[in-house]
Amino acid sequence: MDFQQVFGKPPETQASAPGRVNLLGEHTDYNDGFVLPTAIPQSTTVELGFSSDGHHHFYSENLNEEVSILDNHTPSGFASYIFGCIEILQKAGHTIPSLSVYVKSSVPMGSGLSSSAALEVATLRGLRQLLKLPIDDVEIAQFAQQAEIQYAGVQCGIMDQMASSLADTEHILFLDTRTLERRVMPLPEKAEILVIDSGVPRTLATSGYNQRRAECEEAARSLGVKALRDITDVEVTEKLPEPLRRRARHVVTEDNRVLEVLQGVTSERFGELMNASHASLRDDYEVSVPALDTLVELLQKTPGVFGARLTGAGFGGASVALVAAGEARSIATHVLEQYKQAGYTGQILVPSLELSDAA
Ligand code: GLA
Repeated sequence: MDFQQVFGKPPETQASAPGRVNLLGEHTDYNDGFVLPTAIPQSTTVELGFSSDGHHHFYSENLNEEVSILDNHTPSGFASYIFGCIEILQKAGHTIPSLSVYVKSSVPMGSGLSSSAALEVATLRGLRQLLKLPIDDVEIAQFAQQAEIQYAGVQCGIMDQMASSLADTEHILFLDTRTLERRVMPLPEKAEILVIDSGVPRTLATSGYNQRRAECEEAARSLGVKALRDITDVEVTEKLPEPLRRRARHVVTEDNRVLEVLQGVTSERFGELMNASHASLRDDYEVSVPALDTLVELLQKTPGVFGARLTGAGFGGASVALVAAGEARSIATHVLEQYKQAGYTGQILVPSLELSDAA
């Protein structure tokens, strides 16, 4: 199916946005902290046209599913993100006509690579183009985050939407999520990124995520600071009761790891910081699962791997590793074989097999 076949006429415009992988700085963004994502080659494309029957119609090529908005209730699934973006723009005073929207995506869903942010940012870019809206890329990220919070129910930070709106695949985007100050940095030298899906879909991700966020807010309140970003000395977290002590310790040490990278580090050191991040996410933040721990451990002990960790919110999903340039594929083959022997089935997501074959 294509737009013309579904809606009976060609689209007026189209826009795309990439997924992201976060290299370091996990669960820090809603604590006003620091993150280091980069864009992945996989992206989401949205084609847009005007609908003539007064209702919005959304079609997902991946799901082969059409959703029509007949009564202005928030739909579920992929349509909730598109509907959320439209509603958020309207609340901000923009007039949005009835639309036909066709979505196709190569961003894996449920792997922690921000397929939802890619859909939101692509939708908002498409709407900006179609309606000539005077909004910039940072505002697109902010509207997208609001759509996710208010219409998908995830109390997320702003990392994913900023990465999808502003990052490219050749650089790392350092972002201060409080000030939105950012710096585009080169990838660590002689290294490339390897992303492997654990094959374990994320479970309890929304409830677990929102619970972690609430714990961090409680920890910040107890320590008398606006957000955990305001604590730099990890000793300060020692006085908190469990589990707040460990949650806060993760955030403070993770922020410090990102700030160390900002000073300039070798690929070896970057890898060590990624390994430390995984241990902290597993033991202090408790968002890993056995499959991810196994996958990350296998990666960490493979020659050519500088470091590895879970990426994204956790509770399942993908791992990210920093590996010697040119070796990602052979490392992945080796690790996936051992991962299989441990009883799991993983999949290489970056470097993207499909996209490079197509190129
Ligand atoms: C999800 C959220 C982000 C961020 C990460 C964890 O991807 O959408 O805002 O909090 O989890 O770092």
